[in-house]
Amino acid sequence: MQENGHSSLKGKVAVITGAGSGIGAAIAEKLSQLGAASVLCGRTESKLAATAKTISSNGGKADGQVCDLKDLRSVEALAAHVEKTYGKLDILVNNAGVGTFGGPLHAMPPEEWDSVMNTNLRGVYYCIRSFAPLMIRTGGGDIVNISSLAGKNALPNGAAYAASKWGLNGLSYSVAEELRANNIRVSVICPGSTNTDLGPHAGKNANKMLQPGDVAHVLIMLVTQASQSFASEVLLRPTQKP
Ligand SMILES: NC(=O)c1ccc[n+]([C@@H]2O[C@H](COP(=O)([O-])OP(=O)(O)OC[C@H]3O[C@@H](n4cnc5c(N)ncnc54)[C@H](OP(=O)(O)O)[C@@H]3O)[C@@H](O)[C@H]2O)c1
Repeated sequence: MQENGHSSLKGKVAVITGAGSGIGAAIAEKLSQLGAASVLCGRTESKLAATAKTISSNGGKADGQVCDLKDLRSVEALAAHVEKTYGKLDILVNNAGVGTFGGPLHAMPPEEWDSVMNTNLRGVYYCIRSFAPLMIRTGGGDIVNISSLAGKNALPNGAAYAASKWGLNGLSYSVAEELRANNIRVSVICPGSTNTDLGPHAGKNANKMLQPGDVAHVLIMLVTQASQSFASEVLLRPTQKP
């Protein structure tokens, strides 16, 4: 049995999708502070470079890799890079996501539906498809999916986003059962309003919202659990309604 607590992540390798901004950047920074080598994934090279610069200026290891999660070949290339460079993957954080919150579902153009579903749901499938075999071969690890309280509740004018996150929760619970015998914990974090550029935040008080670091704090709790312990889902709310 392994002791729990905030043990160092030295020697661990993590992939964080959507690491160029917001919650993903905060997660990559916290993982790196604890010693993990962080592979940063996103579509915009300059954003990944900014996160990598913050990490390396604090003495951490970061490796920015441009990757579009909507493209299976792009995700497979990322997995091949990770296997070749590091030989293993300990922590996969499926964080990247998009959303539109401009109106009712019946007024949403089909391209917008595709973009939300193909990023938030299909992209996670592509990552699990591409990385789980390596994790299984190298002894297991953690897959943490960043969902939303919109995956637990109704979200008028954000129906596609809510549907993608409800879907992500179902995917997470099911894949958790598929992979637990392989020593892989698949968990899901459902944050409420978080102070980033994404989300229906008009009229909300940013100071009362969750901050990206609050989500990163929960992720660190999950990946530093003792090996026999598996917290599979966290609902994370701002203390005061923003
Ligand atoms: N903010 C909130 O209130 C809130 C609440 C609950 C849950 N969440 C969830 O938290 C996660 C992170 O969101 P955030 O709030 O931190 O927003 P954010 O700053 O917009 O971060 C999303 C990241 O995903 C990346 N991304 C988008 N599409 C991608 C693709 N096809 N391939 C690779 N990367 C892609 C974006 O970078 P590029 O555009 O450069 O690719 C961006 O860095 C999302 O899953 C979101 O649903 C957010």
